[in-house]
Amino acid sequence: MSEQTTLSPGTEAVTVEAAMSDTKAVSGAITKIESRTSKVAIIGLGYVGLPLAVEFAHSGFDVCGLDISREKVDSIQRGVNYIKDVPDDLLTELVKKGKLKATTDFSILKDHDAISICVPTPLSKTHDPDLSFILSALSEVKKYLRPGHIVVLESTTYPGTTEEVLLPELASTGLNVGEDFFLAFSPERIDPGNEVFGAKNTPKVIGGVTPNCSKVCSTLYSQVIERVVTVNSTSAAEMVKLLENTFRSINIGLVNELAIMCDLLKVDIWEVIDAAATKPFGYMPFYPGPGLGGHCIPIDPSYLSWKMRSLNYRARFIDLAVEVNKSMPAHVVTKVMNALNERQKCLHGAKVLVLGIAYKRDIDDVRESPALDIVKLLRDKGAQISYHDSYAPTFCYDEICMASLELTEKNLYDQDCVLITTDHSNIDYQWVVNHSQLVVDTRNATKHIKEDRDRIVKL
Ligand SMILES: NC(=O)c1ccc[n+]([C@@H]2O[C@H](COP(=O)([O-])OP(=O)(O)OC[C@H]3O[C@@H](n4cnc5c(N)ncnc54)[C@H](O)[C@@H]3O)[C@@H](O)[C@H]2O)c1
Repeated sequence: MSEQTTLSPGTEAVTVEAAMSDTKAVSGAITKIESRTSKVAIIGLGYVGLPLAVEFAHSGFDVCGLDISREKVDSIQRGVNYIKDVPDDLLTELVKKGKLKATTDFSILKDHDAISICVPTPLSKTHDPDLSFILSALSEVKKYLRPGHIVVLESTTYPGTTEEVLLPELASTGLNVGEDFFLAFSPERIDPGNEVFGAKNTPKVIGGVTPNCSKVCSTLYSQVIERVVTVNSTSAAEMVKLLENTFRSINIGLVNELAIMCDLLKVDIWEVIDAAATKPFGYMPFYPGPGLGGHCIPIDPSYLSWKMRSLNYRARFIDLAVEVNKSMPAHVVTKVMNALNERQKCLHGAKVLVLGIAYKRDIDDVRESPALDIVKLLRDKGAQISYHDSYAPTFCYDEICMASLELTEKNLYDQDCVLITTDHSNIDYQWVVNHSQLVVDTRNATKHIKEDRDRIVKL
């Protein structure tokens, strides 16, 4: 009060009033969060949204998931889990207790306090960012925006999205950011299939539009995540995610190119990497493979590259890594063709079993999987393709729909080539080699096999 009396009237007084109401709004939001009376809505119940929803519900919040997929919503309402990293029993229990619900009806946003947006951010046909899912979720949030709302975008996107795309829309309701509602970006960093780091113990980065936004949003996430790291802007938070995934894409691109070089030099790339990895400082191993897959690494760097093009700057490292990584499926097909050729066989008409269609070990996600491109390339060259993957029993890609072939001794022996594209840990690779005529291994899954090495061709 004494501070207020020393101020001159007019704008200063208004500023003090606004600052006071800010504090009230912030403390009101924080009190609700800390007492777990804030209700949480998660938009998009996929690989990212469902584990997050479960984590909030498990920490005592009332959570409602929103999805446009009736199937996913019905499944949750029945207490049936569909994401491998989420424990089945936990989801069922949370649904039974009424802590976790799901709906397709966005009007529930009115009575929910915190809203996390976890919808897909793919690339368009022309390889530009496709924000249509974010825009569609945003239009629903805007419809129901009210004072006290906390809105956090978690979908990976280019720097500037939160303040250039979300903020103007939400502010057009007449509500003020940092005073009436709180807006932040917080990249989702989960690694599906990772048994050590999940939603709870992977540190969460948050950048709010204003300091109040950062404060409220970081308080929210610190209730459920062990460590929250605040950065000074939404763009910095957006950039953190792109740095992480660009780092991976470029290093994988580098090691993929080194694999091609080693092939020409007749040097074993895997042996080189293992030996290099003994250096205790200044080096971390990345491994080559049949190409990049999943909804993140093959896509996210292109969001940054697109943004830089709009600023008349070419992201050269990104573009080169994309080029090398995209060339890997064709390189693998050439390896198969050469391996067959050395055995006086021709790829056209050869029977090839693709072992593993998911994009990485021990998960069921086939999005952007390089094995899909390899299947297509091999088919285009006239090979007779079958595949086996217990995690992905069926798949459809580019008009090709297939069902997993049972892995038996006979089915293996019938193949001219078994191509290991994903090194799932539920496969006995010694047994595979024992019963196959030729194995092309793009993952070093046969590393420990000592016998019958003449039947194995490595990337
Ligand atoms: N999958 C990962 O490993 C991972 C890791 C980190 C970050 N991300 C990022 O997280 C975001 C989500 O990825 P994901 O893997 O969970 O995708 P996903 O496809 O598994 O799930 C997205 C869900 O959103 C739903 N959806 C789409 N539009 C919607 C709308 N307008 N309203 C409500 N629901 C809608 C879909 O039906 C789907 O269930 C992406 O930006 C991705 O880049 C993904």
